[in-house]
Amino acid sequence: MQRPRLLITRRLPEAVHERLRNSYEVTANFDDLPSDREALGRALREFDALVPTITDRFDAELLNAAPFRTRVIANFGAGIEHIDLEAARRANIVVTNTPGALTEATAEIALLLMLMAARRAGEGERLLRAGLWRGWAPTQLLGQDLRGKTLGLIGFGRIARETASRARALLDVRVAYHSRSRASAEDEEALGATYHDSLAALLAASDIVSLHCPGGAATRHLLNRQALECMKPSAILINTARGSVVDEGALADALSQGVIAAAGLDVYEEEPAVHPALLKLENVVLLPHLGSATLQTRTAMGMRAADNLDAFFSGNTPPNRVA
Ligand code: 8YV
Repeated sequence: MQRPRLLITRRLPEAVHERLRNSYEVTANFDDLPSDREALGRALREFDALVPTITDRFDAELLNAAPFRTRVIANFGAGIEHIDLEAARRANIVVTNTPGALTEATAEIALLLMLMAARRAGEGERLLRAGLWRGWAPTQLLGQDLRGKTLGLIGFGRIARETASRARALLDVRVAYHSRSRASAEDEEALGATYHDSLAALLAASDIVSLHCPGGAATRHLLNRQALECMKPSAILINTARGSVVDEGALADALSQGVIAAAGLDVYEEEPAVHPALLKLENVVLLPHLGSATLQTRTAMGMRAADNLDAFFSGNTPPNRVA
């Protein structure tokens, strides 16, 4: 029997390529550049299966050009707002993702950003590297203690809970959250989490606000000018979710006008572009989408994508089917 033709759109950890080569006729994009529309359209016509990433946009316009040869898209990553799931269903394409594989790594980046923003680590490193450090001084680069503060989570899924649990242990914070649906009493109790039924109330009660909701139209600019104004002037905003959740222009204004104190961002509205006003500010930590960037985690994500493909091609429902 002919092995399914599989396209891997970016360079993944070698162990993942190796495993996939055992079962599929693999073409891998080792030049590691994001594919344009035309290349993705060609891929849909020429391959039985695709392993794409966040840098590949499968919108309705592209997917409406069915029929295709592709029967399954096994996304490398948890977030799938770059794939129009309705259009994929219409095109008879099964879509899967990799939840769970990147929970801990992403929670760690949220914590890293909290600490960096609270203790002005980026600012300090820039000062030192610029040769401008004149030595220790008692009131130099004073940050904020996080101990005893309230960490407000927006969204209460896996990554939010992992972030809360680690922040409680490491930073001794209290946990509050707002999400579309309230968690069970046991889940709240496990994290000592207080539920706020309105976003504004959560924002007003939190010293650190950490975003953990999905991207896409429903959450676009959830953190807009008005929402940022609900936050405390001493508050820190952390985004490891999706850039689209925050209005970057409004955030830059809020940071420069003292509406909030600081921010730590790992994701951006138009990656890899970053709003130019943010780049000029000292009180924002900017990381290049490192949430899941460890070899172990990226390997686990690839293996999860492979599990989904294997299930699909052996006639079973893939464990992480989203469409
Ligand atoms: C991934 C992520 O690196 O999985 C996600 O949703 O945001 C990242 O950690 C990226 O999406 C891979 O496609």
